[in-house]
Amino acid sequence: MKAYAYAPGKIIICGEHFVVYGATALAAAINRGTTAEAEPSPTTTIYSKDLAGKADLSTSSIPEKLKPIAAAITAVKEHLGEKKGVKLTIQSDLPYRSGLGSSSSSAVAAVAASALALGHKLPLDDVVRLAMSAERIVHKNPSGIDVQASTRGGLLLFTKGSQPEPVELKRKVRFVVASTGVERETSALIERVRLWREQNPSLFNSLVDSTTILSRCCAEALILGDLKRAGAILNFFHTTLSWLGVSIKEIERIVEAALSSPSALGAKLTGAGGGGNVIILCSEEGVEGVAEAVSRVASEAFVTPLPNSGVKTWVQKS
Ligand code: MEV
Repeated sequence: MKAYAYAPGKIIICGEHFVVYGATALAAAINRGTTAEAEPSPTTTIYSKDLAGKADLSTSSIPEKLKPIAAAITAVKEHLGEKKGVKLTIQSDLPYRSGLGSSSSSAVAAVAASALALGHKLPLDDVVRLAMSAERIVHKNPSGIDVQASTRGGLLLFTKGSQPEPVELKRKVRFVVASTGVERETSALIERVRLWREQNPSLFNSLVDSTTILSRCCAEALILGDLKRAGAILNFFHTTLSWLGVSIKEIERIVEAALSSPSALGAKLTGAGGGGNVIILCSEEGVEGVAEAVSRVASEAFVTPLPNSGVKTWVQKS
């Protein structure tokens, strides 16, 4: 028997970085993600062509890029009290270190597929908790927003330490996601923001408070279909994140190209910044044109409708 799990990547619509310090942020699952295949085995092995290749958990030489997944599977086995191992293969269509949640979607898919191969369909709260053991290795101080979006899907208002609040859209919205092609390290960007906060404590705290209000306003605007208002909030966040020092010229070039189109209602970097991706909220009829316009300055651009479902599991009998 082979067990499978698919977990989506994510975009953060408002509130990255501030969410680490207690602000409410708005995130959504996207239409790209990671598939994990797992089967019971005497030992535990991980294979990923996109990451570092292979790891055998019975040895001490686990490649750096596979350590988070190894930690997540060890946590699953401890949680289930299982001695048996799993043979796990992971494949993702999310670029690595790009702000689209590739590490969290890999961890969520790995956790759900490994548990299922060992005979257990985990409740979503357990998937989140176990996948967080991988995320802590990647980000050091993660808020948990990426794992929550990947596990639960849809759109979520998320505040660290609380259950996420689902946001139900009345009709689909579409974002263009445009890549700078620049890989970056989330933990280094979190550190940069920490230093900014240390130098500007009261200003930073007021931005945390504003983020909570604006994330809720943005969720409400998306529910009501007021895309102009939601877009203006995205622009505010992009300016604020640039001020914090987490934008780069490749991001600015994409944002500028996007906003020169009247169909682009708002654009911002998404995730930690420093490279990675830009999201652009578009009017329904203009989305393809915006994708084409930004693809001239981006390394890749695609359209994601929202909402998308969270983690899914299935088995294939051999
Ligand atoms: C990373 O996708 C989002 C950050 O806010 C970090 C986190 O919330 O864990 C930069």
